[in-house]
Amino acid sequence: MGLIKTNEEIAKMREVNQLTSTIFRILDQEVRQGVTTGDLDKIVHDYIVYELKARPAPLNYRGFPKSICTSLNHVVCHGIPDHTVLKDGDIINIDVSIEKDGFYGDTSKMYSIGKVKPFAQRLVDLTQEALYQAIRAVKPGLPLNIVGKTIQEFAHKNNLSIVREFCGHGIGTDFHEQPQVLHYYVPEDNLILKPGMIFTIEPMINLGARHIKILSDGWTAVTKDRSLSAQWEHTILITDNGCEVLTLRNDEKIF
Ligand code: MF3
Ligand code: CO
Ligand code: CO
Repeated sequence: MGLIKTNEEIAKMREVNQLTSTIFRILDQEVRQGVTTGDLDKIVHDYIVYELKARPAPLNYRGFPKSICTSLNHVVCHGIPDHTVLKDGDIINIDVSIEKDGFYGDTSKMYSIGKVKPFAQRLVDLTQEALYQAIRAVKPGLPLNIVGKTIQEFAHKNNLSIVREFCGHGIGTDFHEQPQVLHYYVPEDNLILKPGMIFTIEPMINLGARHIKILSDGWTAVTKDRSLSAQWEHTILITDNGCEVLTLRNDEKIF
């Protein structure tokens, strides 16, 4: 679909992305020590299908076998729900995405399980702040690389590294559309932001080196040095004077 969404398309995207963010109201009640990532997958699958009357976007997407991504500790992204039990001190990203009436919603957040080490909680909090700073920075007339520039300055100032192999993305009637949204700075990446653009920002930030590898399941991305990784994701709409966070949660204040 086009880079600039029509008012009708924007209304549909607002609706589906708000529905997507309600999934965290369920997860907030269910994520705790002792549950498995597979349990969470089933709970979210059933909520999406039976309550939201929508479709989990990851399920069978390019062969992905489950309805959510659960990325634990040194897993960077695309972790596959299984029998892994959440335990005290874990940090985990849960990425939820749905399709309803042909339009897509996509968002993720981190959960801290029990008593998390201060260095791990710091990574979680700074990664959210990196996303928030990028959200506060975007507005029409600026180049798209304001996203990567903002995140990179913040991450490097805090001695953290940014994963390069995965990026944010346009979203609409396809799950992943143009443009690619890099989380690091590339001067040439100078597409000018315009009202009506809709894309995700979803930085993956590591405590150690930026390098990753993909496990033999073909999906799970982990840090090469097994250092902790965190990620937060929102879908945003560029407006006349900044942006609207389409996946904003009730408990969240960004501006
Ligand atoms: N939700 C992820 C994103 O932010 C994509 C997941 S694709 C899957 O773009 F196949 F891994 F589920
Ligand atoms: Co995404
Ligand atoms: Co996502």
